Amino acid sequence: MIAAKPPMGWNSWNTFGKDIDEKLIFQIADTMVREGYRDAGYEYLVIDDCWSLKERDSDGNLVPDPEKFPHGMKAVADYVHGKGLKFGMYSCAGILTCAGYPSSYDHEYEDARLFARWGVDYLKYDYCNFPRNADGVNRYHTMSMALKATGREICFAACNWGHQQSWNWMRSIGAHMYRSTGDIFDNFRSFMGIFQSQLEHLCQSGPYCFNDLDMLTVGMYNQGNVAIGKPCTDGEYRMQFSLWCLAGAPLMIGADIRNLVPQMKKLLLNKELIRIDQDLECRPPCLVGRRSVMVPEEDRENAVEPLRAVKDQLFTFIKHLSDNEFVIAYYNLFTEERDISFIFADAGVPYSSGYGFDMRDVFTGEELGVKRDYYTVSVPGHDCKVFLCRLAPFHS
Ligand code: GAL
Repeated sequence: MIAAKPPMGWNSWNTFGKDIDEKLIFQIADTMVREGYRDAGYEYLVIDDCWSLKERDSDGNLVPDPEKFPHGMKAVADYVHGKGLKFGMYSCAGILTCAGYPSSYDHEYEDARLFARWGVDYLKYDYCNFPRNADGVNRYHTMSMALKATGREICFAACNWGHQQSWNWMRSIGAHMYRSTGDIFDNFRSFMGIFQSQLEHLCQSGPYCFNDLDMLTVGMYNQGNVAIGKPCTDGEYRMQFSLWCLAGAPLMIGADIRNLVPQMKKLLLNKELIRIDQDLECRPPCLVGRRSVMVPEEDRENAVEPLRAVKDQLFTFIKHLSDNEFVIAYYNLFTEERDISFIFADAGVPYSSGYGFDMRDVFTGEELGVKRDYYTVSVPGHDCKVFLCRLAPFHS
């Protein structure tokens, strides 16, 4: 069964772009095992764009660049599998990939067979250089079928950036996850914009077909291929990771895990946040209180009309988990520290019910005990607080 829960792994693009080779992939595989990423659930190791030669061979096959992958892709797949991981690769529905390498338009079945022969378990499928008069929905369906025809279980990670309202049809053509936004960059505005744009589509994300908010930039600090704008702070990375987990989005690490600072490794391996992401029920977070739209402070001027009016930049969510558990999360989009209140009645638990929430901080593990009526926390600028909670009766 593929993608019963949001797929997790590592992808080469965010940090390495075209600078990939087998040595790097082997080292990443080793790191995923040695440092506990595999055991935390990160199982796919995915090579993104720029792995092939610029031409197919005389039989029409894609050819791994022999300088980057001198032992071929089967050897890379074998190494990755030998570490107990799954192996992912990249192609594109257009004529050329985004970086200008040959891609799978009109080669879907032969390419899928080649990937299956190599032992590929995951295919990211991009949308650059797609012929104008071709039918995008049909071409994603074609690759989905081509993968199925191989008989191998291959996670189909469609990435058409939301064209033709992809959230409405990706599940029905067999994709296991789908990117419905443009590329993430390693800055606050980028990840917040992506989350905001998908909030209303998260109810179309769930088992076997998840809305993919793109590879994480957590821990990159502007090192690598998607560095634009101001580097993120640790608080902003906490926001990004926890928002992806609240959304139940695929968690694909983009940072160089061989050299991650300890606090970012700890964040990516946070068991409670991963459990929230992987929760069986896959319910989207519910934005509660008066606040209904999220606009990063710096984006206010560029925001489309209905969003510009919204002044509030303090957001609270509740997410229902399985087994009567909940997440209550607070986000501060201001740059300065603010108090944020979560009024339990806004989430259906008025004081008069006699119930409050027993709360535990997911970042520190601190037990707060049972709070009644509301809970106010002070949240530093561009940071968040996230609590795991259970309903608990109180006696007044
Ligand atoms: C983009 C895609 C990125 C990355 C890149 C490779 O279209 O959204 O995630 O795969 O192409 O060239």
